[in-house]
Amino acid sequence: MIDLDDAAAMRAADPSGMLGLVSGLADHCREGYQLGRAAEGLPSADDLTAVAFCGMGGSAVAGDVVRVLYAERLRLPVTVIRTPELPAWCGPHTLVVASSYSGNTAETLALFEEAVARGCRMIAVTSGGRLAQLAAELEVGTVRVPGTFMPRAAVGYLALGVLGSLESVGLVPSMAADLDETLGELRRILDVNGPAVPASNNPAKTLALRIGGRFPVVWGGEGLAATAAYRWKTQFNENAKVPAFWGALPELDHNEVVGWAEGAGRSFFLVALRHEGEHAEVAARFPLSTEIARSSGMEAEEVRASGASGLSRLLELVLHGDLVSTYHAIARGVDPTPIDAIARLKRALAEA
Ligand code: PA5
Repeated sequence: MIDLDDAAAMRAADPSGMLGLVSGLADHCREGYQLGRAAEGLPSADDLTAVAFCGMGGSAVAGDVVRVLYAERLRLPVTVIRTPELPAWCGPHTLVVASSYSGNTAETLALFEEAVARGCRMIAVTSGGRLAQLAAELEVGTVRVPGTFMPRAAVGYLALGVLGSLESVGLVPSMAADLDETLGELRRILDVNGPAVPASNNPAKTLALRIGGRFPVVWGGEGLAATAAYRWKTQFNENAKVPAFWGALPELDHNEVVGWAEGAGRSFFLVALRHEGEHAEVAARFPLSTEIARSSGMEAEEVRASGASGLSRLLELVLHGDLVSTYHAIARGVDPTPIDAIARLKRALAEA
């Protein structure tokens, strides 16, 4: 086990500096927003009927952020497409946002090309690769983000880059005030949970150590907390290299709870993501559902976001999960950065 209060040992266990990258979320959001606002050649938002957000893995999360934050305020549907097939409803009145951090993801490139062929309105978000090339050739407005990250660590650039560009075309209202609040809340979370704060006084380090060898199960209320729960699950997979699971309330009360029979939860640890903006129905269900999980032998802990805006609540929960999953890796001597299985799959598919 690596001592999470030993800075030198932590640096040695995290040679590519994932902890520094996840800690930089506030700065990435601020810069991403500026890049999105400054992007040129963006399409018109007149007469749009839908937004299709195309991306995979770490690059799709930005689409989830947009979808969940604007579900109640946008008068058109936002769909996140994580397959190589563009739905039949996409056409000239659809805004297609193609998001690929590397710019080389096969599914996203296939969707981009099909969307261009159908005359969709296009925005590309990328750090380079084939997507940047195609977008330049076809004069597609592009949010160009810096290229030195792992895709999942660029979530602030990708999400705020997209939000900034959607604000530029007039699709969403200015979020400058929400962003200011969010940056303050993210810095406050780091003051309490950052790498320099000793484990005895650091909820994120303590949670990572408490989870230990158990498999994380992360629950959130439908909407922004469920989006954050999915991000926690994928960050446990990629940073900590462990199986992890997620669910959304109220839906999980209609199926998953049955699986948590007595004794079934002993190898699992439940993290419940909560915030003040939860629907009353979800808030009422959380203690009852958590009690079922506990009676299956699972330990459980709540993580709460306290910000006022949806953007702040969502990104607080995301940052908390990024930190916990990275501490969980480092404490067990696992390098959080490499994702060998994904790289192997991409190579094998390219060769095939
Ligand atoms: O976290 C990762 O590295 C992956 O989930 C990638 O984001 C995914 O494979 C897609 O690649 P890209 O983000 O470069 O389009």
